[in-house]
Amino acid sequence: MIKAVTGTKDILPADIPKWRYLESLVTKIMKQFNYKEIRTPVFEETALFARGIGEATDIVGKEMYTFLDKSQTSVTLKPEMTASVVRSFIEHSMEKKQSLNKLFYISPMFRQEKPQAGRLRQFHQFGAEALGSNNPALDAELIIIPFWILKSLGLKNLTVKLNSLGVPKSRENYKKVLKEFLQSKIKDLSEDSRKRFDTNILRIFDSKDERDQQILSNAPLLLEYLDNASLEHFEKVKQLLLSAGVPFEIDAKLVRGLDYYTHTTFEIISGSIGSQSALCGGGRYDLLIKELDGSDTPGVGFAAGIERILLACENEKVLSLNEESLDLFVVTIDENLYKTAFEYSLFFRMQGLTVEMDYLNRSVKAQMREANKLNAAYVLFVGGEEYIRGEIILKNMKGSEQFTFRKTELDKVYQKIISG
Ligand code: HAM
Repeated sequence: MIKAVTGTKDILPADIPKWRYLESLVTKIMKQFNYKEIRTPVFEETALFARGIGEATDIVGKEMYTFLDKSQTSVTLKPEMTASVVRSFIEHSMEKKQSLNKLFYISPMFRQEKPQAGRLRQFHQFGAEALGSNNPALDAELIIIPFWILKSLGLKNLTVKLNSLGVPKSRENYKKVLKEFLQSKIKDLSEDSRKRFDTNILRIFDSKDERDQQILSNAPLLLEYLDNASLEHFEKVKQLLLSAGVPFEIDAKLVRGLDYYTHTTFEIISGSIGSQSALCGGGRYDLLIKELDGSDTPGVGFAAGIERILLACENEKVLSLNEESLDLFVVTIDENLYKTAFEYSLFFRMQGLTVEMDYLNRSVKAQMREANKLNAAYVLFVGGEEYIRGEIILKNMKGSEQFTFRKTELDKVYQKIISG
């Protein structure tokens, strides 16, 4: 039997209402903040991600789905959206039409990570990017948006972690200090951290190894090495979050897994879903657009993992949606009236009702059971003696009242159904 590929998941009909609900909540809140939706291709030229996210990151080094297409071009299934949005921004000269572009997306992403609870190889993100301003109000806005979305879902166990990575110059100075600090302790670090010491030293802070964490507990922190302008920017972001009522913790060890960040970085963590606890991450990337051959344009954004959010909702028992229901189930009493039942069903659907009928030649009893199972508000009987008399019977499934109509009075049947 062929099964879904490891790390991928079907989203079955029973799960769809939650996805739809979340997607429409995202769309509504993005609209309130005046973000416009963008959709980019599922794959891009590999160079976009290699240059955008950074060669030394885990995503580019280990996790990308990369292949040569028939014309020998190396393409990659998108592991994240920021690079794609920036590529599209540059390609369509968006800054010429509008000096600030506020964009949002909902899309599948692909990373070949080791699958576990909350970690998939095809997963879905919603997110937003604001391109064209270095105003700290946008850093704050892009934290407030996901926070509001998560709160609107009813989630409680949330922590906003905030940090600033400043500008490359102070970061380079700091890296030297960190290198010096760790130099004598290298042999005690985990193998992964020893590798990162040379390739991407800041990422050592991400290590889950207890010994590494103990060594790092006394390490100098990047926040202490930021220049004044960066500290001022960070201070403004904090003030705006405070006035918006978004609680946050400063986490000076929060380094993100992508290389493009400058200034603000943040994550929103859930205490309800185990080790893969980041529901959302993001930050400012003032150099990325130029790095990808665009103009010198600042940017800031976030992305949130939909599967993780729905897992948190399940574990916190929030987001219980009303069961789906039908307005009407058309019961076919006589098999030879199948065509009439079919036409009636179409008529009521054309009026805008949600209608189902029987396609399996079931008995009237079995059709009634099905109508019950589907939560039909009404059933309409087509057939039997009353049909011979020229009548059809509508039954209210809750109150069990029955209403008799002439076969020709379908519009009256409709009026009855919508009047409740
Ligand atoms: P990221 O932290 O790599 O950031 O991913 C954002 C979110 O996507 C994570 O917090 C997590 O909820 C979800 N996620 C990531 N990997 C997986 C996975 N394998 N399985 C399930 N969920 C996952 C970015 O992608 C940046 N583009 C965010 C950003 C936008 N920064 C600036 N603008």
